[in-house]
Amino acid sequence: VGNPKADIVFIGEAPGKQEDLHGIPFVGRAGKLLDKMLAAIELTRNDVYICNVLKCRPPHNRDPLPSEVEQCEPYLVNQLNLISPKLIVALGRISACTILKTKDSLKNLRNQIFTYAGIDLMVTYHPAALLRNPNFKKPAWEDFQLIRDQYLLQT
Ligand code: URA
Repeated sequence: VGNPKADIVFIGEAPGKQEDLHGIPFVGRAGKLLDKMLAAIELTRNDVYICNVLKCRPPHNRDPLPSEVEQCEPYLVNQLNLISPKLIVALGRISACTILKTKDSLKNLRNQIFTYAGIDLMVTYHPAALLRNPNFKKPAWEDFQLIRDQYLLQT
């Protein structure tokens, strides 16, 4: 969902129940928080593009299986090729690790610039993690400030 000409793309893990019902990523509680985080760096859903690694909801919200990632990844890469953003933000460890094919911790993946499909990629917390643990809000805000700086640098 969002602007197909966006310079920044946010990638979550997979649709949850609400997202599955609506066919739109990040419309549930985590999505509402994501909207607030975007607003904090002066962006709206109309400025960005939001999608997920998996295009379908895994049963009972379990973690994506490697085979599912493998099936969905060509769609993700195609989306990125069509949008051609300047910056990708992976939301949460599962999104980051499946995209980057690593088992590293989120802590280690933050504050770095990776490349995926030829595009700069940064990693931050999943908004659902911030809902579960408010202690992550401060470091997430620090990440979003870096993301904003990098975005402004690129655009
Ligand atoms: N969590 C995700 O990773 N993606 C969504 O679309 C909603 C919740």
